[in-house]
Amino acid sequence: MAKALIVYGSTTGNTEMVAEQIGGHLLEKGTEVTVKNVTNTFPEDLSENWDCVILGASTWGDSEIEFQEDFEPFYENLDKVNLKNRKVALFGCGDSGYEHYCGAVDLLVEKMGELGAVIMNDPLRIDGEPDDSSSDIKEWAAEVGDAI
Ligand SMILES: Cc1cc2nc3c(=O)[nH]c(=O)nc-3n(C[C@H](O)[C@H](O)[C@H](O)COP(=O)(O)O)c2cc1C
Repeated sequence: MAKALIVYGSTTGNTEMVAEQIGGHLLEKGTEVTVKNVTNTFPEDLSENWDCVILGASTWGDSEIEFQEDFEPFYENLDKVNLKNRKVALFGCGDSGYEHYCGAVDLLVEKMGELGAVIMNDPLRIDGEPDDSSSDIKEWAAEVGDAI
């Protein structure tokens, strides 16, 4: 059975909800899933024996991109992890009314490139309430499941 780790940072619960939904869809398709809040996760945990690592963070700030506050220190320490050729998928919640819509996801894409990770599919960006994007979340999770 393939094993996936989902790590999320979430302030008002939106990214958490998306993480749980992704986890549920992957589980339905037969993937063993661990969903963790970034507050309980060390970057080194990504090095364990996962077939894929899924990272999710919301974007805050205004004139410049700010990660969700719990995710920021985790992001800053990602360089410590060897993610070369590891399969990753990225998602985040945001609001397209802001200048840097889902900017945290863009920064994660860049970071994964620097670290040589393999991004499995187009990152998922949720605009506004996750409840309005249930079918997109399901479709995206299916893509990830197929690519594991
Ligand atoms: C003060 C503030 C700043 C925000 N800045 C951004 C931003 O720069 N880009 C963006 O896409 N969304 C921005 N948002 C929207 C949040 O990312 C969005 O509400 C998200 O769903 C929160 O997810 P979370 O509950 O998982 O933290 C901002 C929201 C607030 C309240």
